[in-house]
Amino acid sequence: MDVALPTRRATIRLAHAIARALAPGDLIVLGGGLGAGKTFLVRAMLRALGVPDEIPVPSPTFTLMNEYGAECRARVPVLHADLYRLLGASDEDLEHEIAELGIRARRGEGWAAIVEWGDDAFDALGGDGVRITISMERRGPRVAHLAGSGPRGVVLASAIASPTQT
Ligand SMILES: Nc1ncnc2c1ncn2[C@@H]1O[C@H](COP(=O)(O)OP(=O)(O)O)[C@@H](O)[C@H]1O
Ligand SMILES: [Mg+2]
Repeated sequence: MDVALPTRRATIRLAHAIARALAPGDLIVLGGGLGAGKTFLVRAMLRALGVPDEIPVPSPTFTLMNEYGAECRARVPVLHADLYRLLGASDEDLEHEIAELGIRARRGEGWAAIVEWGDDAFDALGGDGVRITISMERRGPRVAHLAGSGPRGVVLASAIASPTQT
């Protein structure tokens, strides 16, 4: 399923669709190059979930993971991770780092996980989620490609895509 993102406004609309569909324990991995708009999308999604403007939503590039729990007033608690620093790591190292971060375990406790550069780690993150890849052709408009995998992933992907599909 493809969603065109010609403007920031269109990305914000997609973020709202994700926020509406998101449930505790969900997994979304975000792919696409540097500057594709992954962090922009997550920030808009957290705002749509109820995180107020006075709480900053920085990129987790250096921290690996930022948390938006009850004190952030999100409708669903969210872990926002960025695995860029782990690109090229062996499967074993990836498994180890993700276990350290506790993402898989915390999904079981009701945290939704949104993971930039998480494609290679989909299974290590517990699987059953949605992959969103933002492609940015030279000079062309951005397009988000959504693919659900696993029972919840398939349902979540179509719930996200249905109101925004063009
Ligand atoms: N349609 C769009 N969707 C998302 N971001 C856009 C769009 N058009 C321009 N941008 C800009 O592109 C940049 C994307 O940056 P960022 O979200 O940090 O990328 P990433 O996390 O994928 O590396 C932002 O500065 C944003 O304002
Ligand atoms: Mg980013």
